[in-house]
Amino acid sequence: MSTAAIIPAAGLGLRLGGEAPKAFREVGGESLLVHAVRGLKAATAADLACFVIAVPPGTEDLVSKELMPYCEGARLLVVAGGSERTDSVRLALDLVPYDGIDCILVHDAARSFVPPEVIDRVVAAVRAGAPVAVPVLPVTDTIKRVDEAGRVVDTPDRRTLVAVQTPQGFEPSVLRRAHAGDGTGATDDAMLCERLGVTVQTVEGSEDAFKVTRPRDLLLAEWLLTERRKA
Ligand code: CTP
Ligand code: MG
Repeated sequence: MSTAAIIPAAGLGLRLGGEAPKAFREVGGESLLVHAVRGLKAATAADLACFVIAVPPGTEDLVSKELMPYCEGARLLVVAGGSERTDSVRLALDLVPYDGIDCILVHDAARSFVPPEVIDRVVAAVRAGAPVAVPVLPVTDTIKRVDEAGRVVDTPDRRTLVAVQTPQGFEPSVLRRAHAGDGTGATDDAMLCERLGVTVQTVEGSEDAFKVTRPRDLLLAEWLLTERRKA
């Protein structure tokens, strides 16, 4: 059995700023999207048979050509994304083949440097029977819930909180059911599954799986890449 990877890469990267959409911004001379694809491909235990990438409308052909060399041995499908991340994932999911796929990974292009062992942990959890598996890290800040006036409502016990990363792994029929419903307000795909009452398993994430979101994250990405190339 093999896995399929959906990569939502259609966002504009408004918090990052700059000319190009975020997935096309370069670190170490290559786009974040190329780094993300290469990272997934390197997790050999995932046995990736297919990539479906959601990109800004109009860039499909360009991206297909750019990514072809990195997808060796796997099918590459590129689709125009939608207005929200959930829409982009749903549009990509429509193209994921049914045959021979026992796990679908959904991975943000912006988490370009996730280490292979995190991907392996996610896939292993799904193959061991978890309908959904997500990589997580403990939170280091104290998190407070606030009301519209900015007043603190309460402070959840930090020991019960985790920060969630990608790739998130899914038993294919669960992900399809999750995306068949209303996706309004969902900030990740696991959340859609939680709404169905499906149990979501957590596995250990990595600091290297941070999401490039703001300009300083590009500096961190450059540093991380330099360290990896030295090693
Ligand atoms: N994404 C997408 N389609 C959208 C919005 C986001 O495919 N309509 C993707 C982004 O390309 C990114 C991932 O979802 O890989 C996580 O989203 P985020 O980090 O929020 O990226 P952007 O939406 O591009 O950034 P911003 O919110 O700052 O504009
Ligand atoms: Mg966004």
